[in-house]
Amino acid sequence: MTDTSFLDTLLSRQSVKFVQAPGPDDAQLDCILQAAMCAPDHGAVHPWRLALVRGANVPALVDVAVRVAEAEGKPLLERKVENARRWLARVPLVILLGCRPDPQGRIRVEESRLSVAAAVMNMLNAAHALGYHGFWSTGLGTYLDGLGAALGFDALDEHFMGYLSIGTPIDAIEPKQRPDYRTLLREWSAG
Ligand SMILES: Cc1cc2nc3c(=O)[nH]c(=O)nc-3n(C[C@H](O)[C@H](O)[C@H](O)COP(=O)(O)O)c2cc1C
Repeated sequence: MTDTSFLDTLLSRQSVKFVQAPGPDDAQLDCILQAAMCAPDHGAVHPWRLALVRGANVPALVDVAVRVAEAEGKPLLERKVENARRWLARVPLVILLGCRPDPQGRIRVEESRLSVAAAVMNMLNAAHALGYHGFWSTGLGTYLDGLGAALGFDALDEHFMGYLSIGTPIDAIEPKQRPDYRTLLREWSAG
């Protein structure tokens, strides 16, 4: 049997950066986080390392990034900092995205990172199914050497992969035009 409402959800998801409360309640957040655990995961590594940042803690993420960037001698552009403050000012929930690759090295690091990306996609879709919108961002210092550790990830074993913000759009949103897959597809056949 085809679940058309599930497919409608998949086909209508779009990212929204500027969101406000309400965010997901506890039961909805359980569902979003459990959806992350359903991502494909080569070798059952369970590489997903997530951290919740809620309410008044959210805007403080900017201060951490500013501090780490300065300590590393790579200060963030003032314009970038202002944009981040504007973005996070009203966001009710951020999920910090971390990856812990296979400690035994059996599975390529890249594959664990891909599994985290798949987990993020599942969370975006689950949030959308629950009536919220999300936005995955790496803009705020994600690739600074020390940011992950400053946000509580293990400095040796875990990679910080960015921020997933979730909430209710502040402004009305228009449905997004998507590419026609036919423009990006070819068929391969033997010989
Ligand atoms: C790994 C990753 C990092 C991203 N980082 C940013 C970012 O820092 N800033 C930004 O404007 N969009 C970023 N994006 C894009 C948005 O999350 C979003 O996908 C884009 O605005 C298109 O919206 P859509 O998901 O509705 O197609 C990132 C996407 C990915 C997959």
